[in-house]
Amino acid sequence: MYRSHVLVCGGTGCTSSGSNQIISSLESEIAKNGLAEEVQVVKTGCFGLCALGPIMIIYPEGTFYSMVQPDDVAEIVSEHLLKGRIVTRLVYDETVTESGIKSLNETNFYKKQHRIALRNCGVINPENIDEYIGTGGYEGLGKCLTEMTPDDVIQTLMDSGLRGRGGGGFSTGFKWKLARTIVPNADQKYVCCNADEGDPGAFMDRSILEGDPHALIEAMAIAGYAIGANQGYVYVRAEYPIAVKRLQIAIDQAKEYGLLGDNIFESGFSFDMGIRLGAGAFVCGEETALMTSIEGNRGEPNPRPPFPAEKGLYQKPTVLNNVETYANVPQIMVKGADWFSSIGTEKSKGTKVFALGGKINNTGLVEVPMGTTLREVVEEIGGGIPNGKKFKAAQTGGPSGGCIPTELYDVEIDYDNLIKIGSMMGSGGLIVMDEDNCMVDIAKFFLEFTVDESCGKCT
Ligand SMILES: Cc1cc2nc3c(=O)[nH]c(=O)nc-3n(C[C@H](O)[C@H](O)[C@H](O)COP(=O)(O)O)c2cc1C
Repeated sequence: MYRSHVLVCGGTGCTSSGSNQIISSLESEIAKNGLAEEVQVVKTGCFGLCALGPIMIIYPEGTFYSMVQPDDVAEIVSEHLLKGRIVTRLVYDETVTESGIKSLNETNFYKKQHRIALRNCGVINPENIDEYIGTGGYEGLGKCLTEMTPDDVIQTLMDSGLRGRGGGGFSTGFKWKLARTIVPNADQKYVCCNADEGDPGAFMDRSILEGDPHALIEAMAIAGYAIGANQGYVYVRAEYPIAVKRLQIAIDQAKEYGLLGDNIFESGFSFDMGIRLGAGAFVCGEETALMTSIEGNRGEPNPRPPFPAEKGLYQKPTVLNNVETYANVPQIMVKGADWFSSIGTEKSKGTKVFALGGKINNTGLVEVPMGTTLREVVEEIGGGIPNGKKFKAAQTGGPSGGCIPTELYDVEIDYDNLIKIGSMMGSGGLIVMDEDNCMVDIAKFFLEFTVDESCGKCT
């Protein structure tokens, strides 16, 4: 039993700003001060506030230290962990009030967020399955396999209103229903996950894989049970080494615990899964190109129909969803369709994760209820534009999306509203531009991107 836990972000952002060195210094300082039995260091996934990395939180106090450097570690250990005195110079200034230090959840960055897909990111050690189970992990799969029929699972998903987070916003429950029913007596079906994440500026899928890989494994097993598939593949770009490593560790642990493999929960249902690496081609994020690439062919799209639900991977019925879409599924199974559909707008239920980038103070990852306005995301959660500059536009939807100008700052973000104003949700990259940005340059950037990445099939 530890009296203190020190959580250090081990996401790609904080790792690149040196969090591994912080963790080794912490471990050696903790040992030097004789605290190894009392204080545990936990390497987590992304907390969201990437601009402030490397990030550290110390519990039970909940003290949030930002931009920690290896040289600060000795002081944190001797002052905070040994003597109980907070190192005020390193505390995130938003948490400092006249009456003391407030919780992170009360800061502007977090208070309007609602974390479902990101619920474990920055909270647990993603390389330890016990921590996932400790927060209710695999309860959803257990419930599906022991209390629900595959049709119940699909009905729950349809009632929840969950729509695909990878771009198109198609009903996830309906997609699963098609894959279950469209080819009666199919001898083989597959579950695929799209972790290609090609949109410039988007990194939510990477963060979920890095911070909570078991949520994806659990959801894919649920999908397998629902549609009648016993094999899954995650297609992830090779440029995501931390995500790939943690996902593989998680798959191995789930197999060891009998949560993947034969006869899961003694239910008679078996499911296995593996990782397939992509070479980082934007076009391989398109679902038919992705499956062609898994098959070992050149990643080029094929016309639909037939849709993957009918003829997908190796021409077999396949469900293919995005990482964030899957990350919502276990919670929906545990908490129910009504809980999920009570969040969001009439036709866009639940939350959406956005990767905030460009001219914004709080570069990072946020998850907000559908219907939150662009202004709230940029000004309140994102902390506004640096250097007192004015907001000019925000680009959403990746290269096929659009720029939302100042006149539409108060638009409530959901699938239909974004389409109505000429942009789209896409996978959730949100790039902010200020008065100095040239919109012609932006248009040229995205056009050059699509020209570069085109496989030549688009007419
Ligand atoms: C050119 C192109 C690139 C795409 N890239 C991605 C991607 O990187 N990640 C993703 O999830 N979906 C991407 N999509 C959408 C997928 O084809 C597919 O609709 C989606 O993965 C389905 O999952 P969902 O229903 O959970 O959103 C792309 C689509 C196109 C046309």
